[in-house]
Amino acid sequence: MNTDPRIISFCCYNCAYAAADLAGAMRVSYDPRVTIVGVPCTGAMEAVVVLGAFEEGADGVFVAGCLDGECHYKEGNLRARERVARLRERLSEVGLEPERLEMYQVSAAMGARFGEIAAEFVDRIKALPPSPLRRGAAVKGGMSR
Ligand code: FES
Repeated sequence: MNTDPRIISFCCYNCAYAAADLAGAMRVSYDPRVTIVGVPCTGAMEAVVVLGAFEEGADGVFVAGCLDGECHYKEGNLRARERVARLRERLSEVGLEPERLEMYQVSAAMGARFGEIAAEFVDRIKALPPSPLRRGAAVKGGMSR
């Protein structure tokens, strides 16, 4: 159980970042422990960025990109989805629960859905212990990229 999770959300400016903004405008509140980091396209995100968030002590990370067929860079969201799937395996290999990392897809108009996603993810991460990286404990195998 983790009552004070640190969560990073990498949000595409073209969809999820705008959806998060809309959630705020709609007064759909989501946990302030979700720190939103805007990215031009989830497909441009290197694995090192995601792993770096864990290394910096995030308990959970979610990547939020455009809906299928709506990525401004054609298939960036699909590449991101594959990358997240591979990184989940990597987390498992180093002893972190793979559910600490997730990929979601939303449109800029889905403010309410963004709020739901954030709440669901916070609940998921709260149910896990704090990240061993956050506690400063060694993780088996390290986090080599
Ligand atoms: Fe949004 Fe590619 S432009 S995921």
